[in-house]
Amino acid sequence: MAEGFDVLVGDQSNDRMDMLKAFDETKAGVKGLTDLGLPKIPKIFVRPSEELAEELPHKNTHKIQVPVIDLSGVFQDADRRRQIVEEVRIASETSGFFQVVNHGVPLSVLDGMIEGVREFNEQDVEEKKKYYSRDRTRNVRFNSSYDLFTSRTASWRDSLTISFSGPDETDPQDLPSPCRISAVEYSKHMEILGNTLLGLLSEGLGLKTDHLKNMECSQGHRLHCHYYPACPEPELAIGTTKHSDAGFLTILLQNQITSGLQVLCQGQWIDIHPVLGGLVVNIGDLLQLVSNGKFRSNEHRAITSRIGPRISVACFFSGPVNGAKIYGPIEELISKENPAMYTEVVLSEYVQKFFATALEKYRALDDYKV
Ligand code: OGA
Ligand code: NI
Repeated sequence: MAEGFDVLVGDQSNDRMDMLKAFDETKAGVKGLTDLGLPKIPKIFVRPSEELAEELPHKNTHKIQVPVIDLSGVFQDADRRRQIVEEVRIASETSGFFQVVNHGVPLSVLDGMIEGVREFNEQDVEEKKKYYSRDRTRNVRFNSSYDLFTSRTASWRDSLTISFSGPDETDPQDLPSPCRISAVEYSKHMEILGNTLLGLLSEGLGLKTDHLKNMECSQGHRLHCHYYPACPEPELAIGTTKHSDAGFLTILLQNQITSGLQVLCQGQWIDIHPVLGGLVVNIGDLLQLVSNGKFRSNEHRAITSRIGPRISVACFFSGPVNGAKIYGPIEELISKENPAMYTEVVLSEYVQKFFATALEKYRALDDYKV
């Protein structure tokens, strides 16, 4: 058995930190564990019993869905655009989630991105290990759970993060070869679509189309490419724990294999089923803040399944990475009747706070409530 794995299987150590370290040091991620063909998941991935006992009702149904918004005609037809803005506004004010189709990103680019992530994760483990790192200054890094050492439960996923926001613009040669071409191509499309969506969201707030773009909300973005291997005990594990996204906006691509993404709506988990050619869009905490609470950043998670791998690529728009910007509720949205609900945020401080704690434990946004 590969070095390090022996601490995680069979007669497991009682020291959680020892096990986490052993797992991290394999640099092989959850995929490395599943390649051993384990019938049970190691303890570090088992959610605490009190958390499992509190599991909320989950309607596994196709009846309740976040809206699927067709973007065709968004630049050609003013009436159509008004209708789309209205649909985007309503979704952003309620669940904070919607899917888009006919968004202009070719299916071949979506498929290429998924396949690139698959190939990266399924290649020889020695190749992957070269990218294994927890150093956030690196534009390209691969690891299993960025909050592995602070979270209650280790997540059943491996992630490759690619930052297209500098400080030095990412050199394609730094990207792993299996997804080099596809990630660069995908990133270009994300920038365009991100700005299209920010335009619609600005209009939905009653502002000029360029308002959010001019605030540099879409300056740079990060791709978090998640690989969720099939899990032998999905009811005990979690893929991505409950959280809200900290940035402005997230665009998420998921493969067609199985549902995994769920959003918390009125006390129940709603599946966001993959739609062919569709992309999931959700509002992040910073957009909730600048919209003065009008748009909602909702909690969501990814569950695991016996079917896999599930692959998703989250593109985060979180403002300029140098962190020099200060964000507060947009002036036009503040009035006597609608006083500011949040104080100003220094982006660099906010990001620091976010990474200092585990995803499930803390929402930096709460520190800025008036
Ligand atoms: C995220 C996220 C969900 C998924 O990366 O923030 O919510 O389906 N991912 O991978
Ligand atoms: Ni998320």
